Amino acid sequence: MSQSARPAVVLGVESSCDETGFGIVSEGRLLGQGLASSAAQHAEFGGVVPEIAARAHLDAAAPTLRLALADAGVELGDITHVAATSGPGLATAVHVGLAAAKSIAWALDVPLYGVHHLAGHAAADTLAHGPLPEESIILIVSGGHTSILHVRDLVRDPIEHLGDTLDDAAGEAFDKVARLLGLGYPGGPAISRAALEGDPAAFSFPRAMLRPGDAPYTFSFSGLKTAVARTVETLERAGEPVPVADIAASFEQAAVDVLVTKSLRAVQAKGLSTLVIVGGVAANARLRAVAQERCDAAGVELRIPPMSLCTDNGAMIAAVGDLLVRSGAGPSSLGIAADPSAVLHGAQLPLPEGFAA
Ligand code: KG4
Ligand code: ZN
Repeated sequence: MSQSARPAVVLGVESSCDETGFGIVSEGRLLGQGLASSAAQHAEFGGVVPEIAARAHLDAAAPTLRLALADAGVELGDITHVAATSGPGLATAVHVGLAAAKSIAWALDVPLYGVHHLAGHAAADTLAHGPLPEESIILIVSGGHTSILHVRDLVRDPIEHLGDTLDDAAGEAFDKVARLLGLGYPGGPAISRAALEGDPAAFSFPRAMLRPGDAPYTFSFSGLKTAVARTVETLERAGEPVPVADIAASFEQAAVDVLVTKSLRAVQAKGLSTLVIVGGVAANARLRAVAQERCDAAGVELRIPPMSLCTDNGAMIAAVGDLLVRSGAGPSSLGIAADPSAVLHGAQLPLPEGFAA
């Protein structure tokens, strides 16, 4: 069989935060993956400590790669392309995965693709639900980013930001509010769990930037976080018990309300019919339920990856690599640098020369 007739088998490497992920994707299909998390090592600090994360990636890289190969039932020699997160993320953490990916690509003599982490979140959905439509609105809600994107071909076309957050990312707000409520790190899942027992209407927390005249697709979550902090302080000062479940549920409801309202507004304003919600916060059960309800009412198709593909993983990076390979994109140089604060303009990072962003 000629080289070109052989389907690409793409290894994806993710190390931008506290998850070490390796995934293997071929022609849009997830063959297998391995995932290790250093979250428990950061818990006592209340957030990710970059140096600890980097060391954990180093320890986890080889065993997690082995797990992914075994899960996929392929040998290292079967890999035809390597894709790695080259940004954004914690610099020390991104470096470890990127260096591992370069070493593997060099040793196997196969092409390397630098991938934008957030394009990975979007591509994760294709592993569960097939190719994205020709045009869609993608809401990215992660620990570091919150954006409403107008996306055409995820890997061929420039990605248009309709709106971003002015301050905290949605996941960051979950993490900070969890800390305020003494729920620990990581905050999103902890808030979700606490909120199950709470009344989402118990407290009326602010929904920022929803007034007429406000930027329609721009978010701000710092006021919401401050409102929660003030509520907790007031109760504590009065010597009253803090109703953690009610506050968690009411906070969650306020955040979800704004996220869904603005992204559905974008779908309708652009005359589109699909909303895709991705990133760690897309694992939130209330967000999934409220988005489904409102999309059904509006006749909009909602796509959200399964929970396990919402938070960081290597499969999503392999999915972008696989799309890039099949689109005919040229590989990145083995000399590419990590870009810890890269804004999402295109799926490949650095952007290929001549890419009109
Ligand atoms: O996408 P991700 O795994 O990493 C980044 O790229 O940042 O997102 C992590 C974020 C964290 O802020 C975490 O608290 C949040 O996603 N998260 C959740 C849930 N699971 C994770 N937020 C709300 N509800 C959840 N169930
Ligand atoms: Zn992420």
